[in-house]
Amino acid sequence: MSLHNYNGYQSNMFNLILFGPPGSGKGTQSEKLIVKYGLKHLSTGDLLRSEIAQQTALGMEAKKLMDKGQLVPDEVVIGMISSALDANPLARGFLFDGFPRTAAQAEALDKLLDLKNTSINVMLALEVSEEELVRRLLKRGETSDRSDDTNENVIRERIAVYHSKTAAVADYYKTFDKVMMLKGEGTVDEIFARLCNEINTRL
Ligand code: AP5
Repeated sequence: MSLHNYNGYQSNMFNLILFGPPGSGKGTQSEKLIVKYGLKHLSTGDLLRSEIAQQTALGMEAKKLMDKGQLVPDEVVIGMISSALDANPLARGFLFDGFPRTAAQAEALDKLLDLKNTSINVMLALEVSEEELVRRLLKRGETSDRSDDTNENVIRERIAVYHSKTAAVADYYKTFDKVMMLKGEGTVDEIFARLCNEINTRL
């Protein structure tokens, strides 16, 4: 029996949004989850940093906003995600990290997935205190090349943007009963176990 629908996508895909404020551990946990569950990792932050590294026009424009802790325009990131979905027709499922970040992005994602006859299964949202977020990001800023981690004001602006524009995205998925909030503090392995527990009950 074929597991592919008429768009070529697998009919039993598992699509997950890993959600949470900057520094909540989305990237760290994504790396482990994609290995365990065979998902394709789609991080808009990583895609944008790749554009910056290649010094594309899009990357240079995005960098100006990212360095201030502001969001890149919706149409830019939606276009990137649309291309990435098209480029991975054989994926067993997608792990969205750092996307969607606005209501417009969430609605666009639902439409894009609908076109592929699939949808979001669950949003797992990591909860971490603001002081722990700042501590983690400043610590990473000591050694990483991420310019948005070096300045505490920029870090706090990223967190403020999360509260003003992004947190409401969880409310959007709550209306479909797809959100599970999880404690994002503790060791990386403890948090990974919590995430796996939730995923396993939904597979
Ligand atoms: P993005 O790249 O998405 O970054 P972010 O949301 O700011 O998140 P981070 O990568 O900083 O944190 P994370 O939650 O992934 O945590 P991580 O695992 O890295 O976005 C960057 C910018 O790009 C945005 O500001 C915006 O300008 C733009 N952008 C991206 N997507 C966009 C979109 N959809 N729309 C518009 N604009 C967009 O961990 C952080 C640190 O903590 C690491 O050093 C890690 O080692 C450490 N750590 C992780 N877990 C633990 C733990 N349990 N205990 C202690 N330390 C831990």
